[in-house]
Parts: sequence; C-alpha cells; structure tokens
Amino acid sequence: AADVPVICIDGPTASGKGTLADELAQALGFWVLDSGALYRATAWAALQAGLDLNDEAAVAPLAATLPLRFAGGQVYLGEENVTEALRQEAVGLGASTVAALPAVRQALHALQLGFRRVPGLVADGRDMGTAIFPDAPLKVFLTASAAQRAQRRHKQLIFKGVSANIEGLLADLEARDLRDKTRSASPLKPAQDARLLDNSDLTIEASVDQVLAWWADQRPF
Ligand code: CDP
Ligand code: CDP
Repeated sequence: AADVPVICIDGPTASGKGTLADELAQALGFWVLDSGALYRATAWAALQAGLDLNDEAAVAPLAATLPLRFAGGQVYLGEENVTEALRQEAVGLGASTVAALPAVRQALHALQLGFRRVPGLVADGRDMGTAIFPDAPLKVFLTASAAQRAQRRHKQLIFKGVSANIEGLLADLEARDLRDKTRSASPLKPAQDARLLDNSDLTIEASVDQVLAWWADQRPF
C-alpha cells in the first residue's frame, strides 16, 4: 500500500480538518479516514460498558475489536448508528482521554492503515503525518486561533439547535488541545515535513484551493 498516496490533515479541534478532508477527497476522488471517529467510538463504547476511561487494560481490548463501519456519511458500531452520539463534546473529551493510552493507539494502528486504498486517501486526525502515514507525500498541519475555533463550534451547535456558550466551548477546546499536545504517546504536533496552514481568516474554499495547489506541486501519481 506504500505506493498509494496519502494526504494527511492534522491539527487541533475545530480547525476545519474534517471539512477540508471531505472536500479534498471529493475533488480528487480519494477515500477519507476520520481517525478521530475511532477514538470517539472507543470512548463511547467504554462509557456504555461503564469502564474507567483511564483503565488501559480494560479499554484497549475494546479498541482492538471495535465493530466500526462507515457507510453513507454515517458511523455504525455493530448495527447501531452512532453518528450523532459520537459528535457530543463529552465524547470528544473522553476520546482525548483514551487517546493518551499507548495500548489504545497501538490497537487502532492497523485499522487505520487498512484505509489506504487506491486511488488515494485523505486522512484527518492528530498523528496522521507523524505516526500513522510517515511516508505520505503531502502533510498539512491546519490551525486557527482558539477564539475562531470556539466560534466555529458554537455556530455548528446553534445550527443543530443545541445551546452552548462560547466561553465554555473555548475552555473545553483549550483543555483538550493541551491534553493532546502534552501526552507522551503520539502528541499533537506538526510533522517535520508538514506544511502549516492557518485558516483563521480563510474561507473553506480558499483552504481547499491552497492544499490542491500544494498537491499539484507534488510529483504526479
Ligand atoms: O474536523 P475539525 O474538528 O478540525 O473541524 P470541522 O468540523 O471540519 O470544522 C468546524 C467548523 O468550522 C465547521 O462548521 C466548518 O464549516 C467551519 N469552518 C469555517 O467556518 N471556516 C474554515 N476555514 C474552516 C472550517
Ligand atoms: O473533531 P475534533 O477535531 O474535535 O476531534 P476528533 O478529530 O474527532 O478527535 C477526538 C479526539 O481523539 C482528539 O481530541 C484526540 O485526543 C483524539 N485523536 C487522536 O489522538 N489521534 C487521532 N489521529 C485522532 C483523534
């Protein structure tokens, strides 16, 4: 699979990774991997089972046997549609707790490699460029100011009819970023050969165009 191209999109929460990854995949006809969903699903399954999210010996076997399926923009665990459940902020926070456990990251490693299929993959997460696909020909580290990111999350929630306050969202996302950056197992940081893209003042379309221009500069596949 090493000859199948991968575009990695890593960065902090609500920087626009998922949106950018979906648009790129559509433009290029590539597959997409939302690796955060794997950590969210692990946290959700652990919470359902009443496990302590820091209990590595109990949580890692769950990650290793996740009956996870992506179909038609939805996420299924076994027969259950968990798309909405996984999007909850509490599940995102839980995901960052289980994501700090090395045995959980190890258990999800092979699962992620399996998404690398012809004609190519756009992979979104925290460690796509540093740990999972280190040989990827294009790595993007996407950032935006914390204030912008909190505002974007706020807008998403309001749109869904969920009430939320910006100050609370800002505090939550800063706490999650800090945990993601300071853990010892695959911390959130740009790969050495990543291109940095700050989209605080960019439209989604302008970000997509920038990455497509970088992609066009790569050797042709
Ligand atoms: O996947 P990640 O958590 O990084 O972010 P996302 O869910 O793709 O994006 C969060 C929100 O920011 C979405 O509602 C995007 O439409 C919005 N966004 C934006 O307004 N401007 C951008 N340049 C990028 C994303
Ligand atoms: O959409 P958002 O950026 O808020 O979160 P996500 O990408 O769904 O990831 C949820 C959590 O999973 C993150 O805060 C990370 O702790 C963890 N994660 C990770 O450690 N490695 C990845 N490749 C993807 C997510």
